[in-house]
Amino acid sequence: MPRTLFCYCDGHCPDNLSNGTCETKPGGSCFSAVEEVLNEINGEYESERTYGCMPPEEHGGLMQCKISPSIHGKNIECCDSENFCNKLVHPQYIPRTTTEAPPPPVNNSNVYLLALVGSMLVCVVACVVIIAALYLIQKRREGKRRQACLIESVRSSHTSPLTCLVERTSGSGSGLPLLVQRTIAKQIELCRSIGRGRYGEVYLAKWRDENVAVKVFFTDEEGSWFRETEIYQTVLMRHENILGFIAADINGTGARTLITDYHELGSLYDFLQRHVLNADRLYDLAFSLAAGLEHLHLENLGRPASKPGVAHRDLKSKNILVKQNGQCAISDFGMAVKFMCDTGKIDVPTNGRVGTYRYMAPEVLNQTINTDQFEAYKTADMYSLGLVLWEMSRRCTSLKRGTRNTTCEDYALPFYDVAPSDPNMEQMRTIVCESGMRPIVPVRWQDEEILQMISKIMQECWHANPSVRLTALRVKKSLSKYRQIPHDIDHSDLAFNV
Ligand SMILES: Nc1ncnc2c1ncn2[C@@H]1O[C@H](COP(=O)(O)OP(=O)(O)OP(=O)(O)O)[C@@H](O)[C@H]1O
Ligand SMILES: [Mg+2]
Repeated sequence: MPRTLFCYCDGHCPDNLSNGTCETKPGGSCFSAVEEVLNEINGEYESERTYGCMPPEEHGGLMQCKISPSIHGKNIECCDSENFCNKLVHPQYIPRTTTEAPPPPVNNSNVYLLALVGSMLVCVVACVVIIAALYLIQKRREGKRRQACLIESVRSSHTSPLTCLVERTSGSGSGLPLLVQRTIAKQIELCRSIGRGRYGEVYLAKWRDENVAVKVFFTDEEGSWFRETEIYQTVLMRHENILGFIAADINGTGARTLITDYHELGSLYDFLQRHVLNADRLYDLAFSLAAGLEHLHLENLGRPASKPGVAHRDLKSKNILVKQNGQCAISDFGMAVKFMCDTGKIDVPTNGRVGTYRYMAPEVLNQTINTDQFEAYKTADMYSLGLVLWEMSRRCTSLKRGTRNTTCEDYALPFYDVAPSDPNMEQMRTIVCESGMRPIVPVRWQDEEILQMISKIMQECWHANPSVRLTALRVKKSLSKYRQIPHDIDHSDLAFNV
């Protein structure tokens, strides 16, 4: 017959026995239990120990004595070695890991709803963040891949001429990506110096088998390089009558360089000294120059890209190149101004550069130009254009009256007969503003249709009153009338030979 035991009891004492003691049924055991309970007053968990007798059927049962010690907040141990053996047994439990007591259960269904909405929101935000991050990573990878492709195509390009490459890959017409420009610049070999101006020296150079022109700026002309680079890389600047920009770079020695298309016929100034023109060639030069200037001046508020208006401020025959097809390409934008009518801001360079006094409009020479008006810069360019048209026209041949011989004037700079070789501002102001002098229009120009037309245009361009000067678009339109009249056009030898 199994024996009974006396156990210490607390919290589980039967009524019929004196406080603190209970007697087990035969085969029973004593237990000591501990449980973590919430103190409702201070909101913290505390341990509560209970002792008592365990009926035999539950001894060793899963219900009581074998509660896994890993259960959080609760444990029980049994013994049957001797009476009151449970007094010495102190089971432990694993306390709850959170420092903060869990909030007492609330019977409010809104809380569940809130929790649900909250977690959904967190999920949505997390999804958006993940998608955005993936998109950005993808975009960056794509950009790098495209750039790498471009550099590779520049490196390995044997077939595509550089200009084609630039045109194909320069996006909104604002030039190649900087890394590609650098790659090209590194592969350039300088051949020989072809000219020297006030701001730098120009070299003929080779990129693979192609000729390019490299202008190396003088060390104190950083500002000119910066402005010129900025203008060439302006959105939508590329035009067949604006010198083709390839790259800008700072080389190993810190020199600022500008790489552009090379035109072996040189500047218009060089060209006119060595060549005479027939009517068609004069037309091509004059029309293309007006077209280049019109494009430069034009402000195009298109979508997605808008082109700001640009005024040159140093237009002259030395800053115009002659292309093999007989057209002009305007160059040298080191002192150009930009204007965007949506902001109304005129962006004037701060490099301290002044134009060329010989070609300066009267209002620039006497400093009455309204520098708050972009229009004023454009009309000043038109004055200079008038002088360049005059330089060209002198070299256009016409029949000598009464003979079958042709004639033209020698090349000359505007005001060659009244100004010194490098006139200063005051000298030009006296000539142009005070004396109101303008280049002489030879009588023979009336004998040739194109010369007659251009002599009228140039005089309307160099008018003392800027507001009555022609616009570049107007010059183009007036000139185009020449093409509408039937002529014996000989295009057979359009390409020039030096
Ligand atoms: N892209 C080019 N292709 C061929 N020749 C060029 C090119 N760019 C410049 N040149 C030649 O180099 C010369 C020097 O040019 P640069 O622009 O440095 O000075 P400039 O125009 O003569 O004088 P300035 O400094 O007053 O503008 C030009 O006159 C021209 O003969
Ligand atoms: Mg120049």
